[in-house]
Amino acid sequence: MNSFQDSLQSLSTGSPPNEEQITALLSANAEQMPALLSAADKARRRGVGDAVHLRAIIEFSNYCRKNCLYCGLRRDNRSLTRYRLTEQQILDAAGEAAALGFRTVVLQSGEDLYYTPTVIARIIERVKNKYDLAVTLSLGEHSRQTYKTWREAGADRYLIKQETADEQLFKRLKPDTSLSRRVQCLCWLGELGYQTGSGNMVGLPGQSLHTLARDILLMRKLDVDMAGIGPFLPHPATPLKNAAPGNLELTLKTLAITRLYLPQTHLPATTALCTLAKDGRRLALSGGANVIMPNLTPPAVRDKYLIYPQKADIGEKPARALADITALLADLGRPLAGDRGHAVKNKPMAYPELA
Ligand code: 5AD
Ligand code: SF4
Repeated sequence: MNSFQDSLQSLSTGSPPNEEQITALLSANAEQMPALLSAADKARRRGVGDAVHLRAIIEFSNYCRKNCLYCGLRRDNRSLTRYRLTEQQILDAAGEAAALGFRTVVLQSGEDLYYTPTVIARIIERVKNKYDLAVTLSLGEHSRQTYKTWREAGADRYLIKQETADEQLFKRLKPDTSLSRRVQCLCWLGELGYQTGSGNMVGLPGQSLHTLARDILLMRKLDVDMAGIGPFLPHPATPLKNAAPGNLELTLKTLAITRLYLPQTHLPATTALCTLAKDGRRLALSGGANVIMPNLTPPAVRDKYLIYPQKADIGEKPARALADITALLADLGRPLAGDRGHAVKNKPMAYPELA
């Protein structure tokens, strides 16, 4: 049995992590938390520096063909008013992001086949031709060929979260797919030259500290360039409406430990974390995070991309959000990154077998 102290110390030896060590770190009590967060903050400075990267999110459709048990966009949620932005509206939102000084846009939607691969490719090309922006896609599971088409159209990065590394739990929560398919997608994306992003939810019903430890090990094995870690928040129009929300401290611990084991990976202060706690952004940036993802979805539809309730960025105006971020970063003594913020990694992409 590893103790918290032993596990923290073994980090400095550079020995590869194991599940027991990570579980011991996840068990840190209130007295041990500051040491963990401060170790993560140091690892963040060494691994990715002080600069904080901004990514503008454009949520262009809330239609989804999948039925994940935790998500408000699930296809069986008939109480949600669905919307789709036109190609021009998406381009205009990207233009607004560029005008505000963003260097990356994240095009995000539910799995909505209304936009064919060709249409998405055209949108990517138009954004890339018109603006000096890196394009990140977050459009769920598609074929290798589709990912290839989008990469050739100019897409730079792709986010597709593993959600949970527990195969059985994954199948229960995402009945339309499987963990191995998800990992397959991440591997294809890496092979095609995308920078890849995964991530998980903390506090899913049925999850244990061991599951979270396996989440971190899987993200390390996949050598992801980005990992979004946020609490599970129950949505009233989903089968998990009565489940308890994820815990703030456990989410911060998971983020901190992920930083310790993936020192060069971009870790955002997720919107879910900011929804759970008012000072979530500050806490995350002080405990391993180095990315903020403000919402640039047009205000008319913003409140309809409701994956969980009271999403923190619903009423936020981009200029106001940027002013808040500037003030927070000044307070933390952290600069805004001026470049596109591609992850710089020395290691080659790994192609894991699922154990
Ligand atoms: N609570 C927290 N995060 C959620 N997501 C979806 N539903 C929830 C929820 N209820 C996250 C998942 C998914 C992304 C669309 O949003 O991690 O990848
Ligand atoms: Fe669709 Fe993603 Fe929500 Fe699942 S988590 S229902 S795939 S938007």
